[in-house]
Amino acid sequence: VNLDQVLETLDEKVINRLGISRAKNKVLGTGYIAGLKALVKVLNIPKPTVLTGKDSSIKMCESVASFGLKRTLIVTDRMLYELGVLDKVLAKLEQLGCAYELFCDVEPDPTFTVVEAGLRQYRAKNCDSVMAIGGGSSIDSAKVIALAASNQVSPDKLVGILKGKQASAPFFCIPTTAGTGSEVTIGAVISDTDTHQKELVIDTRIVPLMAALDPELMKGLPAPITAATGMDALTHLVESFLSTMANEESMYYSKAGIKLVFDNLQKACKNGKSTAARENMALASFYGGLTINISGLGYVHAFAHQIGARYKLPHGLANAKVLPHILHFNKKVCEDKLAQLADLIGVAGRGTSNSVKAAAFISAVEELIVSVGIDPQIPELQLKDFVSIRRAAFKEANATYAVPAYMSAEEGHEILAALAKKRTVKAA
Ligand SMILES: NC(=O)c1ccc[n+]([C@@H]2O[C@H](COP(=O)([O-])OP(=O)(O)OC[C@H]3O[C@@H](n4cnc5c(N)ncnc54)[C@H](O)[C@@H]3O)[C@@H](O)[C@H]2O)c1
Ligand SMILES: [Fe+2]
Repeated sequence: VNLDQVLETLDEKVINRLGISRAKNKVLGTGYIAGLKALVKVLNIPKPTVLTGKDSSIKMCESVASFGLKRTLIVTDRMLYELGVLDKVLAKLEQLGCAYELFCDVEPDPTFTVVEAGLRQYRAKNCDSVMAIGGGSSIDSAKVIALAASNQVSPDKLVGILKGKQASAPFFCIPTTAGTGSEVTIGAVISDTDTHQKELVIDTRIVPLMAALDPELMKGLPAPITAATGMDALTHLVESFLSTMANEESMYYSKAGIKLVFDNLQKACKNGKSTAARENMALASFYGGLTINISGLGYVHAFAHQIGARYKLPHGLANAKVLPHILHFNKKVCEDKLAQLADLIGVAGRGTSNSVKAAAFISAVEELIVSVGIDPQIPELQLKDFVSIRRAAFKEANATYAVPAYMSAEEGHEILAALAKKRTVKAA
């Protein structure tokens, strides 16, 4: 008997009263995660050769030229192309005699239709390599195009864990947002074309050969996207720090990245032209990718994926809004770790208890969100959608993330209700 199916038939109130939902999540979640922990131990996760700093994208082109490739498919979005963000890189490739083909049809939260179109162009133009220039949407599309091309399969066949049999086509990456860390992760997120449900391709073969973290390409990123993508990076760093799969290495990356976000995100939003702020946020995002490769994510992403797909909220924005609520939920079991983060960013009073320090860290996150112009509420959230959002979020979390504490249906509802609440604006 499938426990999930039996519970689907029970009344929500009965489930809540009996407290079954938390027990079910715990049983299912710990089962899946035991398997995942064993898998991660034997996985050999590669890292790209990373170039950093001003004009690192140009230097990466020089390396790419030495690979002796025939033709590279450049995967990007039209907005970036029209803004001229690619100009210097394209000019350099031409100067070096590297033939390329442009695929500019990536859309935010790309679907399989987009990836299939890119793959068709790759094949029609006899490309032998792929370069992503863009945010997570372009990078993830490019990852799946490169893996599907070498494996000669349709992109949707790569959904799941380690579905590629052959190495990916040579793949290079230049992120233009500082948030997803996709330039280093073993994941790619592609949405189902009809339902817009996010599907995960997880494969060590999709990590690029090289990545360039070039602050120059990020200087034109508008403040609201800088804020949302920066909060995505912070969410990766914090969620993986609190994960029960966190180890010394992943916690090192998380701490380094969290400090960088608190020191630089506001600056990058206020003064987008600051090379240092852009460079540091790019590094924070990269650390976020490194840490999630080891210890994964948690309930913030599980809820944000469902909310983002349903109400068309950008990924980072949805994460930013959900993050404080999950931190409050996790606080009871994570006080020690949250207190360490409060010490790290310097908001912990001397001699205070871990509980007080943990609360100070959560407040600092809430203040950061508001300070970069993000509305912490989701007024679009509809009560009628709560059950399906919560169930899908639990399903994603149980099967994918080593969460520090399992949630009951009631707690899930409380979080959604708190997010939906309209903010009362006080009269002056
Ligand atoms: N693979 C992973 O590990 C991973 C991790 C987290 C999120 N994701 C996925 O990444 C996607 C989100 O990526 P994202 O947040 O980077 O946003 P994005 O790639 O969707 O880009 C958002 C917008 O910013 C614009 N933009 C990007 N760079 C710019 C620049 N330098 N100047 C001006 N405009 C610019 C784009 O044109 C686009 O309109 C989602 O699909 C999410 O699920 C993947
Ligand atoms: Fe994310």
